Formats: sequence, structure tokens, C-alpha cells
Amino acid sequence: MDSYKKLLLANQAWVQDKLNVHPDYFTRQASHQKPEFMWIGCSDSRVPAEDITGAEPGELFVHRNIANMVIHTDLNMLSVLQYAVEVLKVRHVIICGHYDCGGIKNAMTRKDFGLINKWLRHIKDVYRMHRRELDCIPDQQARLDRLVELNIAEQVTNLAQTSIVQKAWKAEQRPVIHGWIYDLRTGYIKETASLGPDSRLDDIYMFDLDDHNFG
Ligand code: CO
Repeated sequence: MDSYKKLLLANQAWVQDKLNVHPDYFTRQASHQKPEFMWIGCSDSRVPAEDITGAEPGELFVHRNIANMVIHTDLNMLSVLQYAVEVLKVRHVIICGHYDCGGIKNAMTRKDFGLINKWLRHIKDVYRMHRRELDCIPDQQARLDRLVELNIAEQVTNLAQTSIVQKAWKAEQRPVIHGWIYDLRTGYIKETASLGPDSRLDDIYMFDLDDHNFG
């Protein structure tokens, strides 16, 4: 059997499981979504958002990319964020990174990946901002782990710096932004950073929302 066919067979079994418990499961799913959480995660196949959090369909509004980055010119990420915050009105935005992230690991090298260089460049910037700390860690694995942690903190801050989040903080006192790290070696998630409506940002990134109507 072609390997992909097992996915389609598994889908049929999954439909039956759901219908056995709730005969109207899919009718209810199709009517609307009201997720409480937005999830920004890595594309890595070992970090499936719903599986590792026990979430059901309808609970997470998901965006994934290489190394769970929040890049201010990424219209894809920004569109997902704006829809989640302004239309779905999520209460929490979770950025979940993970140890042994290939994106982070490769950004620490001088390898040429072509187009991907432009994505990894943003991780190299995080390395440069924290070079003094990172270069003092002699063990390569420990240095990689630390860059994963520093990257999550930077992406939490990047989210808070968007006008989308700042407008929602001012008008509706939400969402809370959480930085999480999933440990592939144990399966556990830990929270390493968070920012909320009362957090202060570096002044240069704060928008004067009284005077301008930013998109
Ligand atoms: Co990754």
C-alpha cells in the first residue's frame, strides 16, 4: 500500500470514532468556530499543536512556519494574527518553540540554503543580539538550547510590537502572549515568557493609538 493511503484510511476511522460519540459532531463543527487560543508553532513534524496540548478541533487557530518566527513583513503570519485577534477575539496567543529545532540549528551555521537563508537570517539576528551570552556557552547543545529560549522571548516581544496586539490591549485588555518551549526529549512544555496588556515595551515600538488609526 502506498504510504499516503494510510492517512486516508486513518481519516475514515477517525470520522467513525467521532460519530460514535457524537452523531452530530461534524454538523456542529461546520456551523462556526470560536477558538480561545491562537498558536504559532514550528513546522516541524514532531510538534503537532493539537496532539501535544490535548486540544480538540475548534480550539486552536494555528499558524506554523520554520522556527516559529514572528516577522513584521510576513503577510501570512500577520493576516492570521489579525483575524485571530480582531475577528475571532482569541484570549491567548501562544508561540511555541521547541528544543532541537532544525531552523535554529542551521541558523547557527554558515551553510548556504538559498532562499531559506532569508528566513534564517532573522534567527541569526537573534544570535547576534545575544552573542555575548551565547558565545560563553562552550557546549554546543547547551548553546543551541539557549538560542531556542532566547528566540522565543524575541518572538513574544515581536508580537507585542505589532499594532494589531497593541490596539487589542488598549481596547479590550487582551490577548495575553505566551512563549512556550516544547521539549522533544521529554514531551513536556514549559512557559518561558509572557506579555500582557499591562506590559511596557521599549518606547520606540509603542504606537500612539490616540492619534493614528494603524492597520
Ligand atoms: Co523547529
